[in-house]
Amino acid sequence: MDIRTEHLTKRFGQQFAVDDVGFSVRAGEVVGFLGPNGAGKTTTMRMICGLTAPDHGQVWLGGELMEPRSVQWRRNIGYLPEADPLYEDMPVLDFLRFGARLQGVPAGLIDKRIAWLVDVCGLGSEKHKRTGELSRGYRQRTGLAFTLVHDPAVLILDEPTTGLDPNQIVEIRALIKELGKTKTVVFSTHILSEAEAVCDRMLIINKGKLVAEGTPEQLRGKGLGGLIYAVRISGAQPDEIMAALEMLPHVTSVVRGPAEGSFEVHMGSPGAESISAACSAHGWAIGELRTVEHRLEDVFRDATLN
Ligand SMILES: Nc1ncnc2c1ncn2[C@@H]1O[C@H](COP(=O)(O)OP(=O)(O)O)[C@@H](O)[C@H]1O
Ligand SMILES: [Mg+2]
Repeated sequence: MDIRTEHLTKRFGQQFAVDDVGFSVRAGEVVGFLGPNGAGKTTTMRMICGLTAPDHGQVWLGGELMEPRSVQWRRNIGYLPEADPLYEDMPVLDFLRFGARLQGVPAGLIDKRIAWLVDVCGLGSEKHKRTGELSRGYRQRTGLAFTLVHDPAVLILDEPTTGLDPNQIVEIRALIKELGKTKTVVFSTHILSEAEAVCDRMLIINKGKLVAEGTPEQLRGKGLGGLIYAVRISGAQPDEIMAALEMLPHVTSVVRGPAEGSFEVHMGSPGAESISAACSAHGWAIGELRTVEHRLEDVFRDATLN
């Protein structure tokens, strides 16, 4: 089931927590919602889940415009909040059974559903413990199981690995990837490597605004200020070549490279063909023409610096 938002906006007092955010998530996609603390991740996710009313904007689920507090909304979404929502005194199995009833799972299906949750979330060894006795990693697994109790098509997970140790992080990431095979997943994180490890695509949010999106490869390839091509050209004086490159459409700047005849050409949109065409028009030889990849850390920093 796909998700689409348009113009989502939420203000607290004078401050825009979320400012005109629109994006789409395809059915079955795993999308990382990435941004520094305070960027507006939680507020956006709560609006997608129908828990916070937007000041402006809409959310569509499976092509259907969501009305506030609609039953269908709750049925299709599983939401794992930032702070895990466990009842400390309940044994894991009772807690999941309680969740199943809360979500209106038909009585005849509950036992089977819970067996599935225990299996998928790896709760077999802990299922009789009270949730208050669980380690942080198992608390998070139990929270995830609770989120999945009505087998929703869409999972919205708010910083699901925060507070876990490295082994638990790896396990929860693997679980999210596994769930992503059959469900649409949006999970938030302020950790770049996490988004890269788990997701098909990233949405980068900063100060309430969506500032970049794409697959890790796209974000690396493009940077944010467009593309950079590394070229080596022979057949004329470097100044002449440089002047010709600067004249090309979409070129924002040309920088001399370290080697003889090498340049970095910064372009606002793809333009490898126009570089080759200019060279053949002048009768110059191209020794090299490749796209320079940005480090993802730099892309993220540039997107969220101000
Ligand atoms: N209920 C609230 N009342 C006032 N301000 C809020 C409330 N919830 C969030 N904010 C503010 O909105 C901004 C975005 O918060 P949030 O969505 O929690 O960001 P994130 O999840 O990315 O850390 C922050 O500046 C935060 O202080
Ligand atoms: Mg948050």
